[in-house]
Amino acid sequence: MTRPDTPSVRSDSGPDTPSVRQDPPKGHQAHGHPAVGPRPLARTRSFTRRGGRMLKDSHQAAWDRYADALVLEVPRPHGADGSTAVHPAYRIDPEQVFGRAAPLVVEIGSGSGDALVHAATTEPGWDFLALEVWRPGIGHALAKMGAEPLTNVRFVEADAALALQSMLPGGSAHEVWTFFPDPWPKNKHHKRRLVAPDFAGTVADLVPPGGLWRLATDWADYADHMRAVLDGHTAWELVSTERAPLRPMTRFERRGIEAGREIADLAYRRV
Ligand SMILES: C[S@@+](CC[C@H](N)C(=O)[O-])C[C@H]1O[C@@H](n2cnc3c(N)ncnc32)[C@H](O)[C@@H]1O
Repeated sequence: MTRPDTPSVRSDSGPDTPSVRQDPPKGHQAHGHPAVGPRPLARTRSFTRRGGRMLKDSHQAAWDRYADALVLEVPRPHGADGSTAVHPAYRIDPEQVFGRAAPLVVEIGSGSGDALVHAATTEPGWDFLALEVWRPGIGHALAKMGAEPLTNVRFVEADAALALQSMLPGGSAHEVWTFFPDPWPKNKHHKRRLVAPDFAGTVADLVPPGGLWRLATDWADYADHMRAVLDGHTAWELVSTERAPLRPMTRFERRGIEAGREIADLAYRRV
């Protein structure tokens, strides 16, 4: 079926074969297609598409019930369906989104929402914006909300490394959380790690002086890497290695402990 926002294109199949009308490719494949637009500059992703975008029934039911209210509908570059990019001209006004002025926590990679739902329930006076590329995780988080949606939570299904470059006003996040980011343990994959000098600068723009970036990992060499990146960045200073107060035990932490790994918590203050 032809999508309404992208014209069909003709394939040039030579003089003897009849030309065939084809739909342009969708999603990430679409970039570079003549009907869609140029391919964005190559970059390394901190994630892979895990298990597709299918939600299990109970998570789909929660999605159907709450997504209109809690998952922000964001414009995508080229209108590409399934893209994890957010249109660079799109801006969120947190006060308008949450309908109040309150301290804002931005969680990057909220996974299935363990920390998010726990913290938003414990701190109803704070607002929580979760960025997650994995739709089933968002569905799972919504399913944890029970009979009433948490009014202080919103989700954006997006790659935080791109979206946070443009989507939020500078200095709007009281705290940023990155708990158990994908560790990419093999040397050849270290370049995929989310915590990197450029990203440290992106997060620095979001957090006002005195605000915090809280991180946790069960991979010692990722913890060392985080410290090297943030200690080497003039915007950040280490203020704590204690467990983040609102961080509950999660599947990833338990898995790390069971495998004999130590959990590292880091809190960096915006200078
Ligand atoms: C290992 S899981 C941890 C989830 C959660 N923080 C926890 O502690 O349970 C890492 C999560 O980060 C998400 N992720 C990875 N790269 C991302 C990115 N660039 N933007 C948004 N989410 C990302 C993954 O989809 C995954 O759900």
